[in-house]
Amino acid sequence: MTKVIGIDAYAVYVPRLYVDMANEWPVVRAPQMGEESPEKLRGKVISGVGVKKMAVPDGHEDSATMAAMAAKRLIDENGIDPSDIGILAIGTETTVDQSKSMAAYVLGMLEDHYGKSLPHVGTPQVQFACIGATYALEAAVNQFRAGENTRRYAIIIATDISKYPLRSAGEYTQGAGAVALLVCENPRLLELEPGVTGTVTRNERDFFRPNWSSTAVVDGKYSIDVYLDCIEGALSEYTSRRAAKRIAHDGHNGHNGRNGHDGRNGSNGAETTRSSIYGELDHLLFHVPFPRMAEYAAARVFSTLWESEPSLAGELHKVRASLENPDDRRELQRALMKSEAFRAEFSRRTEPSLELSREIGNVYSASLYLAFASLIEQAVKRGQELEGQRVLFCSYGSGASAKVFSGKVAPRWREVASRARFAEELRPVADGGRRVEIDVNEYERLHGHAEVERGHANGVAIIGPPRSVLPPRGEFVLARLGDAVTPKITDHGYRYYAFTG
Ligand code: CAA
Repeated sequence: MTKVIGIDAYAVYVPRLYVDMANEWPVVRAPQMGEESPEKLRGKVISGVGVKKMAVPDGHEDSATMAAMAAKRLIDENGIDPSDIGILAIGTETTVDQSKSMAAYVLGMLEDHYGKSLPHVGTPQVQFACIGATYALEAAVNQFRAGENTRRYAIIIATDISKYPLRSAGEYTQGAGAVALLVCENPRLLELEPGVTGTVTRNERDFFRPNWSSTAVVDGKYSIDVYLDCIEGALSEYTSRRAAKRIAHDGHNGHNGRNGHDGRNGSNGAETTRSSIYGELDHLLFHVPFPRMAEYAAARVFSTLWESEPSLAGELHKVRASLENPDDRRELQRALMKSEAFRAEFSRRTEPSLELSREIGNVYSASLYLAFASLIEQAVKRGQELEGQRVLFCSYGSGASAKVFSGKVAPRWREVASRARFAEELRPVADGGRRVEIDVNEYERLHGHAEVERGHANGVAIIGPPRSVLPPRGEFVLARLGDAVTPKITDHGYRYYAFTG
C-alpha cells in the first residue's frame, strides 16, 4: 500500500522592511516612468497588477538568512528535534554562491544555533526559476514513498528575493521571503496525492538572470503567455492521469458509490457525487508573480476544465458564443474573467490564496507555498472547515517548466492552522505587527548596493553587505564576506553567517 506522505506544517519568513505602493513610490516613479500621474500608476499597480506592498530585505539579509529564519520558525513552532531531519532541501533562483548549495549554509546556521552536529542530512539546492522548490518537494516525497528516508522529517525551503531594474515594469512586482515546509508520513496538514502529477518543460527565454546580473531579464507579456501555455500542458497531463485513476478506482470498487478515494469518512460522500475533475477541486492555487496573474491563470484553467463540468459548461459556451473570434484563447480568457460565474468561482476557489502575496510581492519559488499559507490562514479567519478538501497546485518556473499536482487537507489540519497568524505579523509595528515602511531613497540604496566591485586590480574587491536599516535582533545575519587569499586561508568571497541574540 502507498504510504501517505505530505506537508505536516509550514512556516513563513518575510523581511520587516517594505515599500508601500500607495504612498511615495508612485509619486516618485510616475514622471520617471512616463506615467500620466501618480494616481494612474498607483491604480495600475494596486488594482491592475494586484500588489499593495513589496517586502525589501534589510542589509544583513539574503536568501540564505531568510531560509534559515523560516526553518528556525518551523522547528521551534512544531517542537522538532533537529536530529529527526534527514533532508534539508532548498529551492531558489537567487542563490548566494555559484557552486555551494545554499542548504549547506542554512544547515550550518541551524547547527550553530541549536548546538547540534547534523552530518547525515542531505542538503541539495534545486534551481529552476520559480519551480525549484516544487522539484525539491517532489524528490523528498518520493524518497519517503520509496522508504529511503533515514529520518522522520524532510524540510523543503523555498526562498527568493525578486529583483528587477529600477523604473522597469518588473519593479512593482518585486518582493522577498521564504516558506519552509515540513514533510513526513501521515502529515497533519496536507496529504499529497500519488500518481497524478502533470509536468511540462519547454526551452524558453521568457525570464532569466545572466550570471553577471543581480536583476532578472524578462519579456513581460511573453512571459505571461509561456506561463499560461505551460500550466495548461501540465494540467492536461494531470487530468489524464486523474481520469485514468478514477476509472481504475471505480472498477475496483464496483461503482458502489460508498467508498471514497482514501477510504475515510467525511469527504467521501461528496467525492463520489462530484461529477467532474473540476468539481473535485475545492481550491486552485497558482504560482503568483503578482496576484492578477493568478486570475489570468484561473481563466485559462477554468476554460479548460469547465468543458466537462455540467454545472458550468453552459456558462462557458455562453461566453464563447458572445466572442467575435471564439477560438482566440486570450479573447476567451478576458471575456470569461468578466463573467459572473468566473467571479464567483474565482473568489471561492482562488482569491483567499492571494491575500499574503498582495502584502509581500513576488517571492518567486516561495509564491505557490505562500498561496497555500494564505489559504490556510484565510480559512481559519473565516471559520471554514477544510478537512478532506482537495487543493490543486499549479507550479511554474520560467525558462520554462510547470507542474500540476494535488493534495487533500488532512483531518488534523487545525492543529497546525491554529498557529497561523502570519497576516497579523505583516502589519506595521505601530499596528501591532513587525513591519517598518522605508522611503524610496532607503529602498534604492539597498536595491543598488553591490557586495563586490568587479574590475578591481585583483579581479573583485569585497565591499560586503550594505548598512542595515533596522539593527538585527534574534535573527540570522550575513555577518561579512571573507577577503583573505593567504598561504594559511583562502576565503575571498565566502559568506559568514551568525545569529544575533
Ligand atoms: N487602474 C486599474 N488598472 C489598470 C490601470 C489603472 N490605472 N492601468 C493599467 N491597468 C491594468 C491593465 O489594464 C492591465 O490589466 P488587464 O490585463 O486586465 O488589461 C494591468 O493593469 C497591467 O497593466 P499592463 O498590461 O499595462 O502591464 P505592465 O506594463 O504593468 O506589465 C507585467 C505587467 C508584464 C506583468 C510586468 O509587471 C512584468 O514584466 N513583470 C515581471 C514578469 C512577470 O511577473 N511575468 C509573469 C509570468 S513569468 C513568472 O511567473 C515567473 C516569475 O515569477 C517572474
